Amino acid sequence: MTLIIAIDGPAASGKGTLARRIAEHFGIAWLDTGLLYRAVARDVLANGGDLEDVCAGEAAARAVVAQSLTDPALRGPRAGDAASIVAKIPQVRAALLDYQRTFAGQEGGAVLDGRDIGTVVCPSAHVKIFVTASDEARARRRYLEHQARGEGVTYDDLLADIRRRDARDSGRAAAPMLAARDALHLDTTELDPDQAFDAAMQLIETKLGGI
Ligand code: CDP
Repeated sequence: MTLIIAIDGPAASGKGTLARRIAEHFGIAWLDTGLLYRAVARDVLANGGDLEDVCAGEAAARAVVAQSLTDPALRGPRAGDAASIVAKIPQVRAALLDYQRTFAGQEGGAVLDGRDIGTVVCPSAHVKIFVTASDEARARRRYLEHQARGEGVTYDDLLADIRRRDARDSGRAAAPMLAARDALHLDTTELDPDQAFDAAMQLIETKLGGI
């Protein structure tokens, strides 16, 4: 069976860590689809383009390759904000679909995390989880990540970034951030990474047991 697991949710909800650990558990591949949008924004800016420019965004999206997703600069808050601007463009989203679906369809299956995996990219995923956490818990997590990397970003700036991006991602017309109707919900506000993983595995095992 090609197992496909979709993990969606807002910024810093814990979906990336969860997706990586679930993929490790099943011994299957993992794709952080946010990196695709982050890379498109980076490449548009590197070419001297405007983040709102449809043609520049589409061209950058068509040119995205796996090797360019490992750049550590993609993890910064500015890259996240820029990503959410190119992510509003339907042509950018369409140009990234093939990459994501080919990844999902690989031998053995895959875990993909993002905003629209359960709704648009892999609507027939075997398991869909929509991960949430309070704004404050998410800003605190991001703050600790940045501190660990020695980056001087304030908690208040990160909270503002998260809220701005949530509003942009939920409010856009093209593939807005949305839980699929058949998604299982997981609130990680009070959970550490191990507890979140255990809770997610319970949801997954129950769901797969019923297939
Ligand atoms: O890691 P974090 O949750 O902060 O962000 P991310 O998953 O790397 O996504 C960065 C931005 O890319 C998001 O704010 C969305 O605007 C966009 N994105 C999207 O539109 N669809 C996806 N499947 C993944 C990310």
